[in-house]
Amino acid sequence: MNKKIIIINGPNLNLLGQREDDIYGKDSLDTIKNKCEILGKSKKIEITFFQSNNEGEIINKIHEVEKFYDGLVINPAAFTHTSVAILDSLRALNKPKIEIHLSNIYSREEYRKKSITSEGVHGLICGFGANSYILGIEAISNLIYN
Ligand code: DQA
Repeated sequence: MNKKIIIINGPNLNLLGQREDDIYGKDSLDTIKNKCEILGKSKKIEITFFQSNNEGEIINKIHEVEKFYDGLVINPAAFTHTSVAILDSLRALNKPKIEIHLSNIYSREEYRKKSITSEGVHGLICGFGANSYILGIEAISNLIYN
């Protein structure tokens, strides 16, 4: 049977492709979604893609993971650096979970060098542009199938 994962995207990621493309690349979120779905098919993983600019909606979606999905890949975007509430919801989740970022948050401004949310996940991938999503799926697939 196919496994199911969800990829959750935080605030402003709906603007990918138009937003600071020197940092985040030229791919739109839809293009990244298509690339993820192609990889998912080859790995027998059904992928749901979700984006919200709203912290509460992201938390509600993380709560759904326990019941409806086998794993979570999350780019919490700016909430990475601020949200203890998202960290708590990640800590409460007993499923494989990976945090990803397009940019290398450790090579940027001081306020981006701390990821609060990554304390609640199995691992963190950052700095590979849109490929961070692909690597995130590879990582979650290893955790799900092992
Ligand atoms: C980001 C990094 C965050 O610091 C930033 O707020 C984002 C995108 C990334 O994918 O590189 O919105 O999560």
